[in-house]
Amino acid sequence: MLQVNAITVEIGGKTIVEDATFTVMPRDKVGLVGRNGAGKTTLFKTLGGDNDPTKGNILRKGGYGYLSQDPRAAGQFDGRLAVNHILSGRNIDEDLIRLEKLRIGMEENASEANIRKYTKAEEQFRDKGGYSADSEARSIAAGLGLKPDRLDLQLGVLSGGERRRVELSRILFAGSDMLLLDEPTNHLDVDAKTWLLNFLRQYRGALLVISHDLELLDEAITRVLHLDRPGEDEVGTLVEYKGTYTQYKTSRADDERRTAKKAAMESKEIDRLQTLVDRFGAKATKASMAHSIEKRIDRMESTRTKAGAKDRVMKVKFPDPPQAGETVITVSHLSKAYAGPAIFEDVSFDLGRGERMLILGLNGAGKTSLLRILAGETDANLGNFEFGYKVQMGYYAQEHDNLDPHANLIDHMRKEAPPQLALTETQLRGYLGMFGLSGTKVFQESGTLSGGEKTKLALAMLMVGRNNLLLLDEPTNNLDPASRESIANSLSDWKGAIIFVSHDPEFVERLAPTKVLLLPDGEVDYFNKSWLDLVSLA
Ligand SMILES: Nc1ncnc2c1ncn2[C@@H]1O[C@H](COP(=O)(O)OP(=O)(O)OP(=O)(O)O)[C@@H](O)[C@H]1O
Ligand SMILES: [Mg+2]
Repeated sequence: MLQVNAITVEIGGKTIVEDATFTVMPRDKVGLVGRNGAGKTTLFKTLGGDNDPTKGNILRKGGYGYLSQDPRAAGQFDGRLAVNHILSGRNIDEDLIRLEKLRIGMEENASEANIRKYTKAEEQFRDKGGYSADSEARSIAAGLGLKPDRLDLQLGVLSGGERRRVELSRILFAGSDMLLLDEPTNHLDVDAKTWLLNFLRQYRGALLVISHDLELLDEAITRVLHLDRPGEDEVGTLVEYKGTYTQYKTSRADDERRTAKKAAMESKEIDRLQTLVDRFGAKATKASMAHSIEKRIDRMESTRTKAGAKDRVMKVKFPDPPQAGETVITVSHLSKAYAGPAIFEDVSFDLGRGERMLILGLNGAGKTSLLRILAGETDANLGNFEFGYKVQMGYYAQEHDNLDPHANLIDHMRKEAPPQLALTETQLRGYLGMFGLSGTKVFQESGTLSGGEKTKLALAMLMVGRNNLLLLDEPTNNLDPASRESIANSLSDWKGAIIFVSHDPEFVERLAPTKVLLLPDGEVDYFNKSWLDLVSLA
């Protein structure tokens, strides 16, 4: 159980919420929503005990599991095996070590005391379900799309996305009373998503989840908390909606319509009063009346309903790509292997100017590896590729690992902008502004950005880079629905070539790929709508 009493949460000089009160009971399934940068993650960290609230207090009963949004933060790098990390959720890893020590002790000296110690520990271990733990851990991991052999590797060698799935497995395996999950479906394909959502539906504890995929949990949700913080400098409020996610969406839309109507009426009234002031103000005889009307306007202004209660939608327009040759890339016989057998072999294709290719494949099929090879971030074991005439390539990395956490947004943009354009700071700000990154935010260190803000910065960098070939690895992760749509629209009108990975069927449909590459087989086919069914599966 979680009881939140009148808390105020602040970060970087901004107030996320003031005086928020709510309770989460066992079996409650609460969704937390709000635009990118509203402060959901910050609020979660406070609920989870990572940060203290500025005011108020939080009461927690029972154990809880917390999944952070940043895949790189997930798990530790102390060389432990992935499977042991999952087992550590119930301390099974330590139990096993202890049991082994006692067994050796008993073998060396079969005294009655040693036998008793071992038997007791073994019994406890059995009661705790220790013997089935390994297979239980592996079945959770498999549900989340981790291949069995990956679990026997050290955590540090896994990709960020895999590490995050290991961390999520550990949390689910631990069986806490309460789960706080920040965007748990990021990096999951639809099989894994479906599995997770089923797990969460059946989960008997309390669940608090931040997700842009809440539709998927729809009827399992018992309550939605909407963190309403329309602008950077505004104080947020938590609005509570009882019922399923669909019910929330309807009520929220009604609220937004009502607020917009109220705001419009108020502003019409203010305009009307202002015309009166303007008309009478000049006449000495009416001056005092004009003055009192002005006071009334001031009063109305101070309590004015903000039309911005509906989240602002960003308007992104990618500039036309510079002219490139007929063929933008030719790929011949690429193979990639890490430690074991090749993950894909003999991948060949070419892509024409303005064409779009979707890469489809299950988790671990090598989609990210292929993009990383083409982006020059890693080498292929065999084969080669060549860019066409005047091709300028931009890469969107799945885990934002090309962002420097200590550099600010303007610095990132300046580094990407072609020097010959000599863009001014105002112009760079203009690009960031299209993505809703404005004001003092542009001088913020990128490491402190919210998940969605990082995605937006990385996309703004691609835009300023004047590229004509984009490699995009799940670019819609972390984006709120409005931003997702806006990015999809802007890319769909863009004339450059795109090679991309996405699990988001709406995004794929909007981008209208011309080709599809299937991994690991390497088969290339023309895209048609029937592939869309696979997008959510693969
Ligand atoms: N150290 C800091 N200095 C200034 N601003 C900060 C700092 N840390 C966080 N912020 C800002 O606080 C706001 C809230 O961030 P938070 O990560 O909680 O958002 P969020 O709602 O989880 O967004 P998303 O949907 O993108 O994950 C963001 O605008 C972020 O840039
Ligand atoms: Mg967040």
